[in-house]
Amino acid sequence: MKLKSALFALAALFACACTRPELKVYLSDSGLEKELLVWQEMLARHKDAEAGKRGACRTEMGYVRIVSDREMPAVRRCENEAAADLVIALDDGMPEEAFRIADGRLTAGSPAGVFLGLQELTLELLSGTELDSVCVEINPEFAHRGALLDCGRHFFSVEEVKEFIDILALNKMNVFHWHLTEDQGWRIAIDKYPLLTEIGSVRHHTDEARYNDWRDASRDSLQYGPYFYTKEQIRDIVAYAADRHIKVVPEIDMPGHMLAALASYPHLGCRGQGYEVWTHWGISPDVVCLGRESSYEFLMDVIDEVLALFPSDMIHIGGDEAPTVRWEECPDCRRFMEEHGMKEAGELQKYMSRLVGDHIRAAGRSCIVWDDAIDGGLDTAAVVMNWSCRPGRLDAVRANGNRIIQTAKYNCYLDYYQTYEPLKNGEVDMGARRYLPLQRCYEFDPLAGFSEDEAARVIGLQGNVWTEYMPSFDQVEFMLLPRLTALAEVGLGTKLGYDDFLTRLKEKYVPAYEYFGFVYAPFALDGTEPYCLSEGYKVKY
Ligand code: ACM
Ligand code: ZN
Repeated sequence: MKLKSALFALAALFACACTRPELKVYLSDSGLEKELLVWQEMLARHKDAEAGKRGACRTEMGYVRIVSDREMPAVRRCENEAAADLVIALDDGMPEEAFRIADGRLTAGSPAGVFLGLQELTLELLSGTELDSVCVEINPEFAHRGALLDCGRHFFSVEEVKEFIDILALNKMNVFHWHLTEDQGWRIAIDKYPLLTEIGSVRHHTDEARYNDWRDASRDSLQYGPYFYTKEQIRDIVAYAADRHIKVVPEIDMPGHMLAALASYPHLGCRGQGYEVWTHWGISPDVVCLGRESSYEFLMDVIDEVLALFPSDMIHIGGDEAPTVRWEECPDCRRFMEEHGMKEAGELQKYMSRLVGDHIRAAGRSCIVWDDAIDGGLDTAAVVMNWSCRPGRLDAVRANGNRIIQTAKYNCYLDYYQTYEPLKNGEVDMGARRYLPLQRCYEFDPLAGFSEDEAARVIGLQGNVWTEYMPSFDQVEFMLLPRLTALAEVGLGTKLGYDDFLTRLKEKYVPAYEYFGFVYAPFALDGTEPYCLSEGYKVKY
């Protein structure tokens, strides 16, 4: 083992010139072949390295992307346990995602735990720790550890979505929340309603304005789209994520954030006409009409195709930011309310959530909603994503007894600025006027103020990347890292204090970001190369 460690060190020094040392792996269970293969594939995914593009380069938005010269040993399977450098074994007595690495042995409760352990090994080996010295045991505290990518406001290619999943995997996260429908674009092919992608995935221009200033905005003259994912592409992404033990939770946001659908099929809206795929950001008063059976039929049909496409045990049906103004004016909605004994228009959303939720539950899955859905009343069976930090909402959810996923915007919204003086610090001018520094992510306590019973209903947390002001994926990476790493540690329950985190960030995570060529923000990292935007760069919203 000593000789091998020396070889690793030599390889790090003469990375390009030498053949890489081998790391021989023995699998004590043949059911783990897939995990080993995927790990090999991940380690080979050294961005641009094969094309010889190592070092630092500027990205589309002007960030620096570093692809380091570090090498990982070449991982090979071996059949002889005694000759192996690393033995991987399962231990039924361990919790499913738990793993332990010590004395050249990785033991885990299930293949998912093995996969998490291999991510830890990536971090340890890239930080220069010798395999024999790696000694770590993790039993993730929360079952749901994830991140949302908004592909409605801006679209990201299949390769970029896979890179998002790679970033989740490296951080031992296990849920990819895929926000697929928005006022500004419908991104998922639905066979029964082809206009959703023919019309709904295109917007005619994009306003160059901040969130609420669009009425005075100038506009670019560029058509955005058609951009959407085919079913084949979605199956490919779901399989890619599953190989990495990551569940893809699709979100079809209803009844609000549906203008792209209304533009495609105007009968879905209370006004029945005059809709277009939105070219600016904000909350649209036009939502799905909940007074007509045809709307419910549409929603159920879409959900049926989603259920067939995504094996996830959870389907997200949105429910955020749905104004009631159109329902109050609409004769069909008013009649429907009367027939169903509803006193307030908000109850229409409760009716819809229960109907669609029951449909999802009848298929053996759970349904997730944003916390806004509690306002008109909510079924206890729904899982609630707590995001809005609106007074009273979380209390109402707690009293109602729902399971909760924590994504409080002041700790988990990764579209907020990273520094206090963003423009002075070279941050791109984003619409969000809020500030979420790394430390606030790290110090997030998803169970703060909860009783033991309530805490048992908190199934996890996630970071959200809303992309109004992120036209390209390098911007997404820059906003994700390192804040996602901080949230990941909250989810794993491995926190040892912010100073300790900063040290490990520099020693363990940054080398991995740079091995894979992920763009990251330098603000909290003393001594990193300063990042700056390329001269004359102008952001188009
Ligand atoms: C949200 O941020 N509207 C869930
Ligand atoms: Zn209506």
